[in-house]
Amino acid sequence: MRILITAGPTREAIDPVRYISNRSSGRMGYALAQQAHARGHEVLLVSGPVPIASPEGCRKVAVESADEMFGAVAQNIHSVDAVVMSAAVADYAPVHTAERKIKKSDGDLVIELGRTRDILAAVRDEFDFKGLLVGFAAETENLRENALEKMKRKGCDLVVANDVSRRDIGFDSEYNEVIILGADGSEEVVSRQLKKVIAGAILDAMQYCAEKK
Ligand code: CTP
Repeated sequence: MRILITAGPTREAIDPVRYISNRSSGRMGYALAQQAHARGHEVLLVSGPVPIASPEGCRKVAVESADEMFGAVAQNIHSVDAVVMSAAVADYAPVHTAERKIKKSDGDLVIELGRTRDILAAVRDEFDFKGLLVGFAAETENLRENALEKMKRKGCDLVVANDVSRRDIGFDSEYNEVIILGADGSEEVVSRQLKKVIAGAILDAMQYCAEKK
């Protein structure tokens, strides 16, 4: 398969030196890229800024903002068979980015934030992609229910749900624990494991799904 994987956080610029971002390390997406390449898939990694070396054998497109990530996905989506959205895309970005560094003053500073576009939702709704679509659901409560709702709303074949309130897995950790939910009602719990093992389980589920599609 030709697989497009989004990974890492996005950065939304406030001014030339400041930005809004999140705690995503990019490790889950990079582990997926590495494992997918090892299994013989062709990988295009669309990555936000992370301090991890590019996985060998994968083509990488580096982006910063949610808007740039949207553009990179739009440009490449029609040359892949599967899309895996593991990036932690910012939901809000400053409405205006100051051209010069904002100087401090005595009062408080209010930054107006506007919604970014949902890249995963656009894959079906705007890009009309017919291939295999895998979303992630980062939740702090009602993991299964929220993930199922996201899967339906965004037209995913699979959704990988993880609990981001735990400090021993997920963001900033080498480990993860996930539930892989399928649009066909399937459900697989992968208990705490190295992200490369979780990546293998996700790729197994994708393979199974692709064979049935
Ligand atoms: N996602 C995306 N573009 C966005 C926001 C999210 O592509 N602007 C994708 C993520 O890559 C992930 C999925 O949507 O695969 C779910 O992301 P998550 O942050 O868990 O959910 P949201 O849809 O943003 O909903 P909420 O923040 O309300 O939980």
